[in-house]
Parts: sequence; C-alpha cells; structure tokens
Amino acid sequence: MNTQGEIILRAEALAKGFTIGTARVEVLCGADILVRAGKSVSIRGESGCGKTTLLNILSRMENPDSGLLQWQGREVAQIRPARLARERGRFMGMVFQSYYLVPELDVIGNVLLAAKVAGMKADKARARELLERVGLKERLFASPLTLSGGERQRVAVARALMNRPALMLADEPTGNLDEKSGAVVMDMLLAICAEQGASLVLVTHNRAFAARADESLVLHDGRLIPA
Ligand SMILES: Nc1ncnc2c1ncn2[C@@H]1O[C@H](COP(=O)(O)OP(=O)(O)O)[C@@H](O)[C@H]1O
Ligand SMILES: [Mg+2]
Repeated sequence: MNTQGEIILRAEALAKGFTIGTARVEVLCGADILVRAGKSVSIRGESGCGKTTLLNILSRMENPDSGLLQWQGREVAQIRPARLARERGRFMGMVFQSYYLVPELDVIGNVLLAAKVAGMKADKARARELLERVGLKERLFASPLTLSGGERQRVAVARALMNRPALMLADEPTGNLDEKSGAVVMDMLLAICAEQGASLVLVTHNRAFAARADESLVLHDGRLIPA
C-alpha cells in the first residue's frame, strides 16, 4: 500500500511536437501534472488537443522533446531502455478506448499476460479475484471475441490492475461504449482503483465522469489547467 501523500507521478514542463512534411505542430508546451497516492485526476480537452500524446509520454511509450518525468520519485529518463517495459508494467496499468485484448487468449489469459510482460508470477488467484470483481467470473475461459464492448473493457480494467500498480492511466475508457455500459465501466474503474489504492489519471470527454475525480484538469494550448 502506498503512503498517503506520496507523489506517484510528477511531470514538469513537458513539451512535444510533431513534424508532418514541412509543417510543425507543437502539441504539448509546458504541461505539468502531479498525482499523489490513491488520488484521481481527470483530463478533458478538445479532440486532437494532445490528451493521448500526453498519456503516451506519461507512460513513456513516447519520449517528450523536453521536460521532467518521475515515477514514484524515479527519473524515468534514467531507466535503461531494455528495462523500461518491465518497469512500466510493474508501476502502471493502462486502459484504452479500444480495449486491446488479445483475441487468441481467453479472458483469464489476457489478465495473466500483464504479469508476464512485467516479469512477474502468473498469480491465477488474483486474476480470478479481479475478474470476479468486474462481474465476469462466469467468463474466465471465454474468448474476448464473444464479449460485449462493456465486458471487454471490464477485462481490460482487471488486466490493468493485475500487477497491483501504483498508477492507472485510462484514455477515454468509455469512448466506445453506450451510456449504460459506459457508466458501469466508470463506476467499476473508480471503485476498484480506490479499493486497490491505485492513483488514476482519467482522460474523458464526459463532464460528469470527469467531475468524479479528486482533481479535474483541462488540456488547453498544450498545458494542463484547472477545469
Ligand atoms: N505520431 C504522430 N505523428 C504526427 N502527428 C501526431 C502523432 N501523434 C499525434 N499527432 C498529432 O498530435 C495532435 C494530438 O493528437 P492526440 O494526442 O491523439 O489528441 P487527443 O488524444 O487529444 O485527441 C493531433 O494533431 C495529431 O494528429
Ligand atoms: Mg486521444
């Protein structure tokens, strides 16, 4: 369990731009964020403003052009590239709009895969417990292809929490879901992160969902400002 008040994620003055042909687009221009243990932060912003780019940088799937990034006080730039995937897999869980389940694996196999990627023990009891918690205990050995969108996203939530991450990143996790199953997924995401003591960075277009976070931010002109 994390110590209350511990800084889980710190980013300062993040900058990131893309060159497309001869055009240069500056997407992030000095974005700062600080997330403490067990706290949730929501981020809203217009389509194309850089929310996914920001999360990709916070998870170090992409490198920023400049700026500081720390995971639990550790300078992420100092982590050797060969160790990065494993460190990421132990530190954070991620949920995406389009689920990204592996169709060749069954439901529990998808959840156990998170442990494998992070070089951790395949704790089947934990995988079962999480799947039960998201209401899928009858579907452990089903193919993800036989699940509804809401059910798939609940598998993705269980997978993201498999390694007891200190931090969860969610990028429009209800973006592909109808209102009702979106509400179920959001309730579960917020409740289970709280139960597990995981901090949460939630990107969403939904104002009501965003308002449920401890802190609400908006990404505007490449910076994060209070909503
Ligand atoms: N790899 C990339 N190469 C070029 N442009 C990119 C790349 N990734 C994102 N962009 C551009 O950066 C901007 C922000 O994209 P994105 O972060 O996906 O926004 P959001 O998630 O807020 O909708 C968009 O203009 C997008 O086209
Ligand atoms: Mg996006």
